[in-house]
Amino acid sequence: MIGLKRDIISVLDMKDDFEQILNEALKMKSGPKKGQKKDPLKGKVLGMVFEKPSLRTRVSFEVGMTQLGGSSLYISPNEVQIGKRESAYDVANVLSRYVDGIMYRAFSNEVMRELAKHASVPVINGLDDIEHPCQCAADLLTVLEKKKTLKGLQMVYVGDGNNVCNSLLLGCALVGMNMRAATPKDHRPNQDIVAKAEEIGKGTGAKIEVMSNPFQASEGADVVYTDTWVSMGQEAEKAEREKLFLPYQVNSKLTEKANKDWIFLHCLPAHRDLEVSAEVMDGPHSVVFDQAENRMHAQKAILVAVLGK
Ligand code: CP
Ligand code: NVA
Repeated sequence: MIGLKRDIISVLDMKDDFEQILNEALKMKSGPKKGQKKDPLKGKVLGMVFEKPSLRTRVSFEVGMTQLGGSSLYISPNEVQIGKRESAYDVANVLSRYVDGIMYRAFSNEVMRELAKHASVPVINGLDDIEHPCQCAADLLTVLEKKKTLKGLQMVYVGDGNNVCNSLLLGCALVGMNMRAATPKDHRPNQDIVAKAEEIGKGTGAKIEVMSNPFQASEGADVVYTDTWVSMGQEAEKAEREKLFLPYQVNSKLTEKANKDWIFLHCLPAHRDLEVSAEVMDGPHSVVFDQAENRMHAQKAILVAVLGK
């Protein structure tokens, strides 16, 4: 692999070692072990370019790098301005001369791929309009931690077929977890991703279903997941979306037919009494803060896999 770098733009970039990454993350979370390498990323610097706001992604990557013996720097939405102040090609070439890896939160998956193509250092997707792969790793790490297994469980995603939903489809397919996504018909997950998840699912045993009825979807759920109805960049559609998605709110009625010990996941930020009722968000099934913590553990395992050579 000398000279080859590894980008994580899609969950599919972890297809060969996804479960290994999750297991490494679990090990890291349980604390330092005898014989484990200390400071595996000593001296490494992660440049973090943000085009959108962030709490979890920024802080979990920054603290994660510090815990691994490396460091990171935060570049705010006002600074680099890829495609406006400078081209993706130039930014990729310049940043590659300074840092050992780039974490990029972008508006566009196309620009994300352009940056990765021209960077000589690994690029990790910290969310774009198509995927949120690090979130998916943290999500499935949380399920593994709570349920002790992944294969054969029923994941149910309710709401907008967005970046988080797309990555989750691929992640569930890879680990053999069944997934139903219930969304309004004009807000389905990405068609190519659904097709890819179905194809992968044929090999792993994961049944992938996309439907409109959230009640039908939530029957027999082991995990119920939702995300905001208004993703970053869609603020102008807020009023329209909040009306359209109302039947997709995750609340106690919607989850009546879920399995007894179902867990509730949300990537956060959450909007109580919109995509999720306060009762569910703050209720006994919710594990959203463990899930947020797991961003850091999952990403530490990803960082070591990508930068730790
Ligand atoms: N879930 C997530 O990516 O959160 P932030 O937008 O705060 O980083
Ligand atoms: N779908 C949301 C996720 C936020 C972490 C967005 O893209 O804004």
